[in-house]
Amino acid sequence: MIEENNFQMLAKTMTGLEEILANELNEIGATQIEISNRAVSFVGDNEIMYKSNYWCRTALHILKPIAGFYIRREEDLYKKIYEIKWEEYLSVSGTLAVDAVVNASIMTHSHYVSLKTKDAIVDRFRDFHAKRPSIDTDNPDVRVNIHLFKNYCTVSIDSSGYSLHKRGYRIKTGAAPISEVLAAGIILLSGWDKQSNFIDPMCGSGTIVCEAAMIANNIPPGYYRKSFGFEKWKDFDSVLWEKIKTEALDLQTEFEYDIVGSDISEEAIQIALENARSARLHKDIVFEIKSFEEQIPPEDGGIMICNPPYGERIVPEDIVKLYQEIGNSLKKNYSGYNAWIITSDFNALKFIGLKPTRKIALFNGPLECKLAKFEIYQGSKKAVKQNL
Ligand SMILES: C[S@@+](CC[C@H](N)C(=O)[O-])C[C@H]1O[C@@H](n2cnc3c(N)ncnc32)[C@H](O)[C@@H]1O
Repeated sequence: MIEENNFQMLAKTMTGLEEILANELNEIGATQIEISNRAVSFVGDNEIMYKSNYWCRTALHILKPIAGFYIRREEDLYKKIYEIKWEEYLSVSGTLAVDAVVNASIMTHSHYVSLKTKDAIVDRFRDFHAKRPSIDTDNPDVRVNIHLFKNYCTVSIDSSGYSLHKRGYRIKTGAAPISEVLAAGIILLSGWDKQSNFIDPMCGSGTIVCEAAMIANNIPPGYYRKSFGFEKWKDFDSVLWEKIKTEALDLQTEFEYDIVGSDISEEAIQIALENARSARLHKDIVFEIKSFEEQIPPEDGGIMICNPPYGERIVPEDIVKLYQEIGNSLKKNYSGYNAWIITSDFNALKFIGLKPTRKIALFNGPLECKLAKFEIYQGSKKAVKQNL
């Protein structure tokens, strides 16, 4: 049962972040939350849709399904798409883009599926209104999403527009930046309760510490974004949207502990500082040019999260030695910290020389990764190397 003014939505995310996203959706008041592969479905009204875009740190896109049907032949796709009352969503002078994800034997090329969809929408406008909307792949008024799985097609409109990982504050990146959504997801997976210090001693362009500072101050992940897809929709409720943003300002909080970002590269720290400045978070984060080995984290413990080189995009001279040094520094300097390391180099991870208390499977782009947790106690100095 779906209440009046409520509708089904689908939040897309990354492998391993589904449960975190489900929690985030629950917090904003979404109902009928169901986890699937790299996605979470839920129900809500326009307010929930706007809030899910503004507040969910681990969502990539919030889709609103508008039609679903089986297709038996290729021509069925065109016919069914043509039948949708597109005038309800898009004006003749508007712009349009189509994304397609295809996993079906009936039609195998996503590009072809998106072309056929565009043709059907444009032809409908031409037939009924003599004019047609134009295509704008970068910044369309309506972004249509086609999901063709086996022979079932779901047609959605994308209330986010461009991906929500593009928060808007990161103006520069280093060699191997982590996605903002993955960075936030790792912090939320770590269970950091904002009642302790936070450090990333290989911070690169500063993504993890910027996301941590946003979480610490309860700043919505959408705070810096220039636009969301739903703002151009025909039913856009600007009063409701302003209310959500104003309420969020009142929810911002102060953070009493330290957030530290350091890196061996001076250039990386320059970039990180510029990004933090663009987010107006530079006063909340201490940046230092230091190697992992030199870095002494703030006293009284906390959370350490880092994304070291994997030997993929950044190739260190001796990756095993680097991970051994990380392990030695953890044992020497990080007592009282929970340390979380994400890497795709499972062999190098063994050379940390500590037994992980948790391992979570994640993907950094196409790279299959492990997020390993190490709990560092006083006695960890004597820890014996154990295989993962
Ligand atoms: C994969 S990148 C981190 C990317 C970062 N998460 C971001 O979003 O930009 C790894 C970083 O580790 C740094 N690094 C490599 N060896 C280091 C060491 N021994 N001590 C500190 N930083 C080091 C590199 O300069 C690089 O910026």
